[in-house]
Amino acid sequence: MLILMSNQKIPVEKYSTPEIASKSVAKEVAALIQKNNSDGKNTVLGLATGSTPLHLYKELIRIHKEDGLSFKNTITFNLDDYYPISQDDPESYYYFMQQHFIKHIDILPENFHIPDSNMPRESIEIECAKYEQTIKDSGGIDIQILGIGRTGHIGFNEPGSSRDSRTRLVELDKITRDDACSNFNSLENTPKYSLTMGVATIMEAKKIILMAWGKSKSEIIAKVVKGSITNEASASFLQSHPNAKFVLDKDSVSRL
Ligand code: GLP
Repeated sequence: MLILMSNQKIPVEKYSTPEIASKSVAKEVAALIQKNNSDGKNTVLGLATGSTPLHLYKELIRIHKEDGLSFKNTITFNLDDYYPISQDDPESYYYFMQQHFIKHIDILPENFHIPDSNMPRESIEIECAKYEQTIKDSGGIDIQILGIGRTGHIGFNEPGSSRDSRTRLVELDKITRDDACSNFNSLENTPKYSLTMGVATIMEAKKIILMAWGKSKSEIIAKVVKGSITNEASASFLQSHPNAKFVLDKDSVSRL
């Protein structure tokens, strides 16, 4: 069941489970792709990794396989990846996207974009500027999908990230590394840096959907939905976006 909470600083949709919520987001994404396909236009999606969007990707794959939705005219840009990390590393976001979404759909390989985690340090500035330019050249992001980290970050825009930040190298927060540490066996093996779209890059998307599930996200969700806009939690900037919404389950919404 869907409950709309419009008395918040950001519109909130509350669903009973992550699966039901994700199906609703998948329907919205699929409808836009379908419409653009019929009009002969491309669709540009901004994509996220982590456990949060897994149900969404599963449902989009189902719609592709069972209902024939084609991704041939879809262009995707991922938010971020660790730096440095090999694309073959199962913990890289490149690998994650291939496994959980890209290899199951008919997107053209050249239309899948993710910051390149193997580039030498001296190329980072130029390559990040190119990433921004490629997004612009594709016509800009139609729908940006987001999760949220415990520090309130979107992408890897850790506390301190400014409203005008762009795609760049960032140092990961201790809390973020602690959360990722179980995937890398030890804190020592956990990457210290990442490449991420900036807050300004994300805010240029025409529509933004942030999803969050579970009790562990309820505190940060309440903070960024009810609190003031601050670069201490980059998700709070979404309050000033004209077309952003939070899609939550009953647990992540519990402190609103
Ligand atoms: C990482 C990613 C974020 C993601 C967050 C939450 O920090 N950079 O994009 O939203 O993890 O991950 P999860 O969805 O697994 O809770």
